[in-house]
Amino acid sequence: MPYNKRTCYCGELRSAHIGQSVTLCGWVDRTRVHAGLVFIDLRDRAGIAQCVVGESSPLFAGAQRLKPESVLCVTGTVLARATANAKIPTGEVEIAVDSIDVLSRAQTPPFEITDDTKANELLRLEYRYLDLRRPSLQSAMRTRHSAMMSVRRFFDANGFWEIETPVLTASTPEGSRDYLVPSRLHPGAFYALPQSPQQYKQLLMVSGADRYFQIARCFRDEDLRADRQPDFTQIDMEMSFVDIEDILSVNERMIQTLWRDILGKELPPMPRLTWKECMERFGSDKPDLRFGFELKDLTDVTRNCGFAVFSGALSVRAIVIDGSSDKFTRKDIDALTAFVRGLGAKGLAWHRAESSSFAKFLSEDELAAVTGRAGWKPGDLMLCVADDKDALVKTCLGALRTECARKLGLLDPGDYRFLWVTEFPLFEYSEEEGRFVAQHHPFCMPMEQDVPLLDGEDLSLCRAKAYDMVCNGYELCSGSIRIHDPDVQAKMFSLLGFSEAETQRRFGHLLRAFSYGVPPHGGIGFGLDRLVMLLCKTDNIRDVVAFPKTQQAIEPMMGCPSPVDKKQLDELRLEVKV
Ligand code: AMO
Ligand code: AMP
Repeated sequence: MPYNKRTCYCGELRSAHIGQSVTLCGWVDRTRVHAGLVFIDLRDRAGIAQCVVGESSPLFAGAQRLKPESVLCVTGTVLARATANAKIPTGEVEIAVDSIDVLSRAQTPPFEITDDTKANELLRLEYRYLDLRRPSLQSAMRTRHSAMMSVRRFFDANGFWEIETPVLTASTPEGSRDYLVPSRLHPGAFYALPQSPQQYKQLLMVSGADRYFQIARCFRDEDLRADRQPDFTQIDMEMSFVDIEDILSVNERMIQTLWRDILGKELPPMPRLTWKECMERFGSDKPDLRFGFELKDLTDVTRNCGFAVFSGALSVRAIVIDGSSDKFTRKDIDALTAFVRGLGAKGLAWHRAESSSFAKFLSEDELAAVTGRAGWKPGDLMLCVADDKDALVKTCLGALRTECARKLGLLDPGDYRFLWVTEFPLFEYSEEEGRFVAQHHPFCMPMEQDVPLLDGEDLSLCRAKAYDMVCNGYELCSGSIRIHDPDVQAKMFSLLGFSEAETQRRFGHLLRAFSYGVPPHGGIGFGLDRLVMLLCKTDNIRDVVAFPKTQQAIEPMMGCPSPVDKKQLDELRLEVKV
């Protein structure tokens, strides 16, 4: 059925269009009848235009019957509104309708399509194409597109080539579980979906590509959280003949350009903190710098004090929530205590001028030493955790400082505090596996001065040429300078407990490639979804992914994962055990 050609988007109409004849195409947002007129709010991705049909029009009866979400093509004349609506950009004009083509009729949608919808998320995900009609999701999709374009322009302008790497590949170790794809032609053999293009991009450096980037789909079978999806997107990059400084500098400029392009914001140079300093001051390797409440070490001033909880512990640390003692009730403090207990602390000691859980156990001098060290003053609330495990004390207080800031409403999503965290440990002790594992992945170069430590007793002291960019408590990217010496790489694999045979089986191709002339190289992978979350000021990754999966890794619209036909399984020579 032919219909008139659209002249502009609904949301583009302004007073400059007054007097023009226009044709709009879109969805009925809503209709209402008032004073002998039918008002049709017509919606497209650019916004909403008010279309008016008068009682005397032959279209009047039909217009009254239009149902929301039906698709129309409307032609009419743009007029000034009697009373402008300042709330919408098209609010100064309306269209006096001459013709309406109903291009498709909609049945009543399963939920109301508005930004303040109360419909539950599972239902909205089942009808994601309707959910995506909501203005906030339309805007997120546009922002995501603009962000990808900005990133592509930046890397192109800086001499990077976008090179695609395979999705059907072999397992590469990023510390998560692989999604496997059975091979029909090779029964019993499997492809793995890439957790990241890590090995391919390193091989591209061996190939001489010199500067690579890719907006790459990555797949990880891991427990999901508010900032994780099983399939997600990385802005992945790698450069040859560089050291840390080159990588940080180009990526800092990329993010500054992105923030300028999307938000019109000029970001200041990003501060750099070593991993050790982050843990010491913020109890986290992804600290939120929008507020203070830094950790203070009380261990030496409490060593012989009268409070057994403190004097009996190998580590005692505190945070001071300044000027906020009256903003926390006893009930709030109980909730904070339950919060740190949930993280493994044995308790939470607290102190303010009016009342204290431990002042009575301390002498005046001891209390003065504790408050002095913590930087506490009357009006402040001090919170302390004591334990023999120093790392636990730090992570509990690190999480507690964010929890307190959340309660105090200090987490302004428009206040972006970026930083680089550098000098990550090369190894991390895994209690679960009873051995050292790679903190990032096994390709990270140790810091030159720490290479001798690879032969030492305590691998935890060895630092990597690895760095993360962090903003407002989110890890946005990780990266490192890579090992380009096959001997150091082989040593790394052996320290990580890979046997010679396993190293050859899993990484033989990489070691072989490195034996044919490999440039020094390094790179980074950014979580695009997390960047877009920050740009859209949301803390839910599903708000910035067109077709996301639930926390149970289900996609309810397509209905996956789902069983497959026996015929398909037979072809793959697979049998399901349940
Ligand atoms: P890493 O494993 O740290 O590094 O991943 C890089 C970034 O990807 C994002 N990210 C995720 N985003 C959403 N959902 C997930 N499940 C998810 N997992 C990770 C994070 C993270 O910082 N190959 C290395 C990079 C390199 O060394 O160049 C890598 O993948 O923002
Ligand atoms: P108790 O002696 O158990 O009554 O504890 C006195 C105070 O110290 C209470 O406020 C406890 O919550 C707190 N507390 C107990 N254990 C710890 C701990 N490991 N770290 C910090 N505070 C603690």
